Amino acid sequence: SLFTLGKASLLATVLGFSFGAAAEPVEIKFSHVVAENTPKGQMALKFKELVESRLPGEYKVSVFPNSQLFGDNNELAALLLNDVQLVAPSLSKFERYTKKLQVFDLPFLFEDMDAVDRFQQSEAGQQLLNSMSRKGLVGLGYLHNGMKQFSANNALSLPGDAAGKKFRIMPSDVIAAQFEAVGAIPVKKPFSEVFTLLQTRAIDGQENTWSNIYSKKFYEVQTHITESNHGVLDYMLVTSETFWRSLPKDKRDIIKQSMDEAVALGNKLALEKANEDRQLILDSKRVELVTLTPEQRQAWVNAMRPVWSQFEDKIGKDLIEAAESANQ
Ligand code: LMR
Repeated sequence: SLFTLGKASLLATVLGFSFGAAAEPVEIKFSHVVAENTPKGQMALKFKELVESRLPGEYKVSVFPNSQLFGDNNELAALLLNDVQLVAPSLSKFERYTKKLQVFDLPFLFEDMDAVDRFQQSEAGQQLLNSMSRKGLVGLGYLHNGMKQFSANNALSLPGDAAGKKFRIMPSDVIAAQFEAVGAIPVKKPFSEVFTLLQTRAIDGQENTWSNIYSKKFYEVQTHITESNHGVLDYMLVTSETFWRSLPKDKRDIIKQSMDEAVALGNKLALEKANEDRQLILDSKRVELVTLTPEQRQAWVNAMRPVWSQFEDKIGKDLIEAAESANQ
């Protein structure tokens, strides 16, 4: 029996050796900066589930949330180095690769998420997915989060209330100009640092979606949230040309299909969370809601709208008009 056992283990070794290497699944690392209980966090997990159930043993998706693996400062560079294969930065974080996506940062451009969605699905919006191909980045689709709100340690009812205050912003010159337009001081900082910056009062406020404000507890370290809906925070799913082309076509199609389905779930959650997380924040009573009168809101529009013409040449007038026409 020792002999049989020996033979069996030898056989296993040989088989293991010859098939084991080939059977090693290809790992797709998906890195992001938000919490798991967010539209992006849930989208990523759904993507993992779908890919691994449709390509069992062949592909494996490892999701790294909360800037665990890479953060705002290095995730796109890491993607181009193939240290990560999939990221979904907000549309405000691509400035070094294209100026066109800055269209999404223009204040008070989109009336609501339906308009954002119409623009993204339009021909102009779909073309933007290819706007970074010369840099080696492939846009695979958009993912929603939602409309941005202002938070601060004072009530921001009129633009003058923001004057002289420091606001953390994403790395976007359009967003910087938006805050400068009301006399505020924009400070570009990675998402992973926002809570501490607010908690230590190194900065006075920030802008974000209800789901980010809730999941990262920003509302616990701010006194007021102004329901401004002044801009959109959405994402582009990007991979590198190198990685994408390395995939056999049939596998790539399954992976893309899985991504589209995961995005559909994420988008549904984005709409739900904009309401639910807002309500959870209000129920906590940790922060006061500032509701703008139509006149107050118009004052913000008037102050910030000049940013459009400031960036018209860089973004392109046609693109701005295409986005605006999505409001219908
Ligand atoms: C932010 O930096 O505030 C957001 O872009 C984070 C995110 O990915 O939603």
